Amino acid sequence: MTAANATKAEAAWSALEREGAKLRRIHLRSLFAENPDRAAQFSVRLDDLLFDFSREKLNADALNNLVALARAAGIEEHRDKMLAGEPVNTSENRAVLHTALRDSRFAPPQIQNDIHNSREQFLAFADNIRSGAVTAADSKPFTQVIHIGMGGSDLGARMTTRALSPDADGPEIRFVSNIDPAALHDALIGIDPARCLVIVSSKTFTTEETLANAQAVRGWLENSLGADAWQSHFAATTSQPARAAEFGVPPEHCFHYGEWVGGRYSVWSAAGLALALAVGRDAFLQFLRGAAAMDNHFHAAPLHENLPVLFALVGVWRRNIMGWPMVALVPYDERLENLAAYVQQLEMESNGKSVTREGRPVRRATSPVFWGGAATGVQHAFFQLLHQGTDIVPADMILARHPRDGAREHHQILQAHCLAQTRALAFGRSAEEVRDIMLAAGSDPDTADRLAPHRRLQGDRPSSVLLHDRLDAFSLGRLVALFEHRAFVTGCIWGINSFDQWGVELGKEIASALLPLVRGEDGDTAALDSATLALLSELGGGE
Ligand code: F6P
Repeated sequence: MTAANATKAEAAWSALEREGAKLRRIHLRSLFAENPDRAAQFSVRLDDLLFDFSREKLNADALNNLVALARAAGIEEHRDKMLAGEPVNTSENRAVLHTALRDSRFAPPQIQNDIHNSREQFLAFADNIRSGAVTAADSKPFTQVIHIGMGGSDLGARMTTRALSPDADGPEIRFVSNIDPAALHDALIGIDPARCLVIVSSKTFTTEETLANAQAVRGWLENSLGADAWQSHFAATTSQPARAAEFGVPPEHCFHYGEWVGGRYSVWSAAGLALALAVGRDAFLQFLRGAAAMDNHFHAAPLHENLPVLFALVGVWRRNIMGWPMVALVPYDERLENLAAYVQQLEMESNGKSVTREGRPVRRATSPVFWGGAATGVQHAFFQLLHQGTDIVPADMILARHPRDGAREHHQILQAHCLAQTRALAFGRSAEEVRDIMLAAGSDPDTADRLAPHRRLQGDRPSSVLLHDRLDAFSLGRLVALFEHRAFVTGCIWGINSFDQWGVELGKEIASALLPLVRGEDGDTAALDSATLALLSELGGGE
């Protein structure tokens, strides 16, 4: 950041802190009473997608200062560098080009052919599995798929395949991620080895859990199909095809993507093969087109009308100015039930950092904790805390204008619940209102007074709504790209590298060193701490 921009950014932060101190004391009820136009003023649209953040504790001055902060943080320059393929992942000296997978406009010329060929290869494979042109060892079609992967090589394919289940007309897809043997055991129940294609999805092809699960499935196939047949039942998606070949995956079943695709941004690449198998080429291409629509908007729209930028700025306001440490993600859509886990990785692996790009300690809090689940079920689980808990947890809700399945009446009930929750969170119900309602219902005044503190909801709790026409391949791609760009913009404002994940490495390294000891084999325990030694001994391993 230039010195001039750093000064501008500091001025914006100071102005935001002043606004925040003022707004913290003003109830959302008052903000709405003062300004009935909030819904129009604090919302932004991209086609049918509306981001309504009118129930955030913001005013016009705060919003202007947030946009000024984004400008001073050089969002436009960082965005353009990422889109142009500069090595914005500085700690790994890599470009970050998942956007190039969705629109050739964002693909540097030297990788355009590679992207096109790689996409054609895995989509043709998906076509051929779906049509039965590529068959199992017994020359009959594959009808079941086991997808093995971890983190970004699992969550994207899993979340999108579930989200687009109404479009699924290909083989049945099951996902295995955890190394807990229960995961594989349960996924294989009812699977016929003769009909089963296994996809090993791993960018590095070194992830221990993925490889151990792949070995186990290979053994399971060998046992029932014989030693020669398993290979024709295996496929891989990876940026390390040589390692997949070494494992034994036939080259014609191996689909690669570039090093410049981060694991948690990889569902647009061959790592999305499971989705393509489930929904077919056309829906997969629509999914890419939806993402490209968001990319083009992100690229072209001015900051104050830019949906991912405003989405990110609302998050910065919540986290850094209001000081709220969590975000609940609540899709009012059963098929988005895996979205919270997906966004958890996207946001927390990208922005759960404590140093800047330059390796200096960050000066402000970074990623909040993301959690959530599909409503309305979660209204009867964690919403109590959202309404009356001692922490304020802002909620991001996702709602469709129309159902996918024509069940209009159910969908209207769902919509009413979403609107009701955002309203109850923002406006609450005062003790006086509780008392009046109870008296009108025939309660005696003593009981009404005694129960009013319990039944009162203070309100003043923020939430935002993402509203779109319906969940389909296009709108899903657009939504996922929106979340990706939000994480990127937020990381830029905090001055961090959103594209590495060194924090995950140490645990992997220690687990490898501990495994022989857990197995009870000889090993060096001298450097271990007493707590680890005590647990090892509980497990029956170690000294
Ligand atoms: O959890 C760390 C991580 O490196 C993720 O970023 C990645 O998505 C996951 O492991 C799986 O890695 P791979 O695709 O190389 O198996």
